[in-house]
Amino acid sequence: MTEAVLLVGGKGTRLRPLTVNTPKPMVPAAGVPFLAHQLARLKSAGVDHVVLATSYLAEVFEPYFGDGSALGLRLTYVTEAEPLGTGGAIRSAADALTSAPAEPVLVLNGDILTGLDIAHLVERHEAAQAAVTLHLTRVEDPRAFGLVPTDETGRVLAFTEKPTSPAEIVTDQINAGCYVFRREVIDAIPTGRPVSVERETFPGLLADGAHLQGVVDRTYWLDLGRPDAFVQASADLVRGVVASAAMPGEPGPYLVLPGAKVAAGAKLGGGTVVGAGAEVAEGAVVEGSVLLDGARVADGAWIGDSLVGAGARIGARTVVDGAVVGDGALVGADNELRKGVRVWCDTRLPDASVRFSADC
Ligand code: GDD
Ligand code: MG
Repeated sequence: MTEAVLLVGGKGTRLRPLTVNTPKPMVPAAGVPFLAHQLARLKSAGVDHVVLATSYLAEVFEPYFGDGSALGLRLTYVTEAEPLGTGGAIRSAADALTSAPAEPVLVLNGDILTGLDIAHLVERHEAAQAAVTLHLTRVEDPRAFGLVPTDETGRVLAFTEKPTSPAEIVTDQINAGCYVFRREVIDAIPTGRPVSVERETFPGLLADGAHLQGVVDRTYWLDLGRPDAFVQASADLVRGVVASAAMPGEPGPYLVLPGAKVAAGAKLGGGTVVGAGAEVAEGAVVEGSVLLDGARVADGAWIGDSLVGAGARIGARTVVDGAVVGDGALVGADNELRKGVRVWCDTRLPDASVRFSADC
């Protein structure tokens, strides 16, 4: 059986205000904390022990997931008092691993939704006898990622995290945030100081001539670091575009959690989730969106590709399109919120106070 380290300690800055009260992996996607989907994937790949490397809002993970027995996993929590970066987090998690020096250990970013065959990645790692094997995917715009050019056999030639000049963009292959490390490679990461696995460990290993193997896999892949991607991932899980054993219910056009109230004349679609205790009134339309627990949407409101936080309220006839409304915010009637706007938690927007168009 393979062990895994899940990196879940980042601040989730680009997802604010969703991550003001909740760490990114605990924000619900398709009705359960996103992390539940990742743990289910690890379980089905044959992993039996997962070390959660926490830092930001570390205290909320264990009360929810406990020792992992309900998921058929053993969970260990390791917390950095001060965030030590991705490499530092992996190194601190090593103290909780039981694998032998040459055995494979999975390491995953905590914000990736993918259909990757994890067991196959481990097999490829063993076959290549690599120090580290990296899942790579191809994207149109690689600038926000780690660039990983390889030779024809998949051997990694370079690792350039978040390229800053056009000359550095030599490939569309990027680090997809799932690795298999030989355990002794983790043990060699320095302790007690911040280390970036992307900026320090991988380039350092390459400079030392270590074998880093890339495995390009083009199955479903999404980094949930930005609100539009998070909402998309939730909708894709609900619609079954990507399968998850942690989904509470069968795939379909929408998911209504127990205790939610949806009026007979409301319209839901596009993989929308209506959270526990949330309410959608008559004549409201909610498409491809996430309404977190206790959110309320009034008559005739239109919500599309958006996330409405826990306990937030959307007034009558208000349009929320590609926006995020933070927990507890009250958006009055006849507003128009569009194009990536982020309404902070507990904000109060009066009736008819924000518009994107001149008509009123
Ligand atoms: N414990 C701990 N401590 N976890 C951390 C820390 C830390 O100091 N810093 C980041 N993490 C966790 C985050 O919670 C996240 O799950 C993961 O490490 C990656 O951090 P992100 O902040 O999401 O990085 P990114 O998306 O900008 O870039 C990374 O992912 C890309 C793929 O989505 C890099 O690995 C890129 O190379 C990669 O292409
Ligand atoms: Mg990320």
